[in-house]
Amino acid sequence: MGLFTRDIKTMDDLFLHTLQDIYYAENKIVKSLPEMIDTASDAQLKQGLQAHLGETEGHVRRLEQVFQMLGKSPKSVDCPAIDGIIDEAEDVTGEVEDKDVLDAAIIAAGQAVEHYEITRYGSLIAWAKRLGRSDVARLLEQTLNEEKAADRKLTTIAESKVNLRAAS
Ligand SMILES: [Fe+2]
Ligand SMILES: [Fe+2]
Repeated sequence: MGLFTRDIKTMDDLFLHTLQDIYYAENKIVKSLPEMIDTASDAQLKQGLQAHLGETEGHVRRLEQVFQMLGKSPKSVDCPAIDGIIDEAEDVTGEVEDKDVLDAAIIAAGQAVEHYEITRYGSLIAWAKRLGRSDVARLLEQTLNEEKAADRKLTTIAESKVNLRAAS
């Protein structure tokens, strides 16, 4: 992004910028999930995060496919929002000793990540449709559905047991 120029002039530019933002975010999530998985204690939580790591690698590939459909090469722009969410997650989990409380903290951090992804994909899908690229929208919808499912799964794990154990 230029310091003295305004590089985002059209909706196409905004779409591409946001695509580059979420591409950065997905790659960052792929790098940070293994530590979350290591730190988690609950077996279902570990397994859920592991499964979502596999899906997240698929999200990166799906974005590369979208870049290709648009005739662009895959590129990232810094996303301070996801950096902040992940930094905060690492700070908080580093402060927790009790393993059940730690699981609750990991779930909360994971849900912050999912919600960030959900909001970005929501905008991208709406814009893709508006820009006449329903083919791109359909592909991104597959990812959005996986993000929503991951979020719901974390809620279930939290409410069915982790929060009970952590607060007892
Ligand atoms: Fe994702
Ligand atoms: Fe996700």
